Order: sequence, then C-alpha cells, then structure tokens
Amino acid sequence: MIRAKPEGGVDMSNAIKFDFTNYSDGAVGEHGISDNLLASLSDKAQSIHADMASRRTNGELPYRDLPYQNIDDIVDFGSASRGKFDNFVTLGIGGSALGSQALTQALCHPYHNLLSSRPDGAMKMFFADNIDPDNLSGMFDVAPPEKTLYNIITKSGSTAETMSAFLLAKERLEKVLGASWKNNVVITTDVSKGDLRAIADSEGIPSFIVPDGVGGRFSVFTSVGLIPAVCAGIDIKSLLAGAAAMDKRIESSDILDNPAYLYAMYQHLLDVKNGKPISVMMPYSSAMYGLADWFRQLWAESLGKRLDLEGNEVFVGPTPVKALGVTDQHSQVQLYIEGPIDKAFTLLAVESFDNELPIKSSYNEKASLEYLGNRTLAELMEAERLGTVYALTSAQRPNMTISFPEISAHTIGQFLYALEVATVFSGGLYNIDPLDQPGVEAGKIAAFALMGRKGYEDKAAEIRNGVKSNAKYLK
Ligand code: PA5
Repeated sequence: MIRAKPEGGVDMSNAIKFDFTNYSDGAVGEHGISDNLLASLSDKAQSIHADMASRRTNGELPYRDLPYQNIDDIVDFGSASRGKFDNFVTLGIGGSALGSQALTQALCHPYHNLLSSRPDGAMKMFFADNIDPDNLSGMFDVAPPEKTLYNIITKSGSTAETMSAFLLAKERLEKVLGASWKNNVVITTDVSKGDLRAIADSEGIPSFIVPDGVGGRFSVFTSVGLIPAVCAGIDIKSLLAGAAAMDKRIESSDILDNPAYLYAMYQHLLDVKNGKPISVMMPYSSAMYGLADWFRQLWAESLGKRLDLEGNEVFVGPTPVKALGVTDQHSQVQLYIEGPIDKAFTLLAVESFDNELPIKSSYNEKASLEYLGNRTLAELMEAERLGTVYALTSAQRPNMTISFPEISAHTIGQFLYALEVATVFSGGLYNIDPLDQPGVEAGKIAAFALMGRKGYEDKAAEIRNGVKSNAKYLK
C-alpha cells in the first residue's frame, strides 16, 4: 500500500490528499497493482521525470510556469467589467471552454445565474460550447446583446464552431449598438497567428493571448480560463497559488512520494497490465462534476493516440468516463460493481462542505425517517461515498480517492495542476505525444471542407465519397 506523503517544507494544511490504497493488490487482489509491479516502472519514471524537468528548463513545457505569471491585466479587466455587464458569454469549444466551465461550476453559487444579485458585480455566466442552433438561439434570447460581454476564445483563431458563433453574436450586437459593438467583446487567441488575432488588432477589440506552446486543454491557468473566472468573481490569485503549491509538492524526483506521478503510474498499469482501459472519475460533489468533464477531455485528447514517438502504430489510450456521486449510484454503480472488471475509479471527496444542512428530526415513529433526524446532509453524502468505496473494494474494483479539505479556488488550483502534470507524465509512460491532437484537427478540417472554405475542395469530395450509405443497410 502506498500513500502519497506530504513533502517536507510544503504547507499541507490546505492540501488535497491522494489515497491510492484501493489501487493496491492488498485491497483488491489480482485486479490491483502490487508494490513490485509499481516499482518495475521506477527507471522509466525517473527518466520521464528527468526529461520533463529538462524540457521545462528549456521552455518547452510553458504550462508548468503559468502559476507564477503576472495576472494584473486580467484582474484589472475583471474589475473594470464586473458591474458593467449583466451577462458573460464564452464562445469557445473543447479546451477553450471546459476549464472555465469547471471553475465556474466548482466555485460559484450553484444557482449563480438565478441569484437576484451576485457578489462584487459578478456577471451571469454562459458557455456556448456547442453550435446547436436551437441552443445558441435560446442563449441569445436570455442574454440581450446590449447587456452582454462576449468572450471569444480560440487559440487557432479559426475553429468553425467558434468563428460562426462570433459572427452571430457580432450581427446581434451591431444591430443594437452599431459601431460600438466592439465594446461588448473580448478576445483570447494566439499572440500573432490566426484570423481572430488580425480582427482583434484591426478592430481595436480588447484581447488576451494564449501563450505559445500551451494547448487548449492545458490552458485553464491562462486568460482562457482566467478571464471568465475573474468575471464570475472567482479569486484567481488563490487559484494560481493553489497550482503553485502543487507545483512545489510534485517537483520531487522521489517518484513514490509524488502524487501526480503515482496517479499516472497506477492508471497506466491498470490499463496496460490489468485490463482496466476505462477510467471513471466520480466526484461526490455536484460542484466538482465539471472537473470530471475537464479531466475527461484532458485524458482522452492527450493520451488517445495512433502513433508512438517513433511513429509506430500503437492505438493506445484509456477511455475516461464521468459519473456523479451520489446521483449515479442509482444509475451506473450497478454496472461498476457487478459488470466487467475493466475500470479504474477515481473518486473525489469533500471533507467540508460550505453548508452541512442539518436535518430536523420528525416522524420518529417511522423507521425510514427516524435515523435521519439530527444528522446532516453532508453526513449522508459521506456515508454514501464510503459505502461506494466499500462496495467497489469488496467487488475487487480498483479505486482511489482524492480528498478536498474544502472546495476553494486554492484546492481546485492544486487539483487541476496535479492532473495536468500527471497527463504529460502519462504521455511518457505510453510513449506518445500528449500535447498534440491530430484527430481533433482532422475534424476541424472536415468542417472547413464541407462548409465550402476555399482551398479544401478536394477534401470535401473525399469526405463525401467516403460517407456514402449502402442501400442494403438502409431500412
Ligand atoms: O485541447 C485542445 O487543443 C482542443 O480541445 C482545442 O482547445 C479545441 O479544439 C478548440 O481549439 P481552438 O481553441 O483553436 O478553437
């Protein structure tokens, strides 16, 4: 059994904790990982650590340094914008939306948009990360353009979904605001590349950058995640302080004391050695459900790869799945406990909710109600989480728990940073590039081609020929 221990010199009073006990063979028998198997990765892990450290020093892993950046301009933008607009709409997709959505869900009031007033002039938050026309049209209905700040985020500056939503928003803004439509827009994109950069510069629209070398799914600590967060009233300095605290905690080359590396190693071994290709993240917290969504993209897009670093076809990658405790105890847990033993579980636990919600006793003559009186809803949540841990472990399903002392900007910052590092470390274990996404790019090109973008005519013909249905299968 291995638990990640706090390192000397690091303040652990507000630290998230990683408990790997139930990934071990001691807890779940042959479906778990023995200390010997874990130790067999030591040399490889050391060399990945050394490689990551030297790439960081050479400036090749800029996401690692984001916790230490100066964010005064972002803080100032937030102060100037809060109170000025009612609504904040993010138009972006994938890594350009999932991080800020997760932050908002985790750190704002659960009914933030419905509150009659929000602290510090925070705006109502909307994320238009799909191009479903009914959905986008509905968003325009509830967020009148003149009271709305549109935040256009695309690193490439050309993604069809985001650019089309931008055109729709611009049209609506221009209709009511004329030439001053630009005052209701902020852009985050590459520093020099892409059409959106050119538009921001030529139109004089306020803009922020996605730093070079930071991909969408690693950009939550850039203006991609921070501009929406600051407009939602989130303490982004504390978020970065949490990320920095985690950075200190996991810089050690002592692999077995490094929770990010251990997480990657256990998950890797469970996938490739123990037949657990499915990785379920199940927060016992509605607020943290968005974190599982964010992680699902990070893990899938980074690790699902056809080619290894030598160019061989390998077709690797675990399948991340999200579930919600306790809701999915009444939906998925039957499968998790009695179905195929092909999953590795990550549970997220909250040690202290903001509201414990005491339950006043009543109907004490009724057995189904009497025991609930004078307890709290937080206690019931914890009891159900422990019950699931017990059920998974008894059924020999490898599971680990990341515990949050509280849900705060600081603890969320720790979590996001640890899993970003674990993802890049996993790339080393799978021997693939975790920072590219050729499959996603193929989808973007298909959208350009089929919508008639100039220069993509051959691709359009190729796709149309490749998707013809066979009459035999048409019913
Ligand atoms: O993580 C990634 O790189 C992707 O998910 C991108 O964020 C996503 O495809 C959107 O790309 P862009 O920001 O260029 O519009």
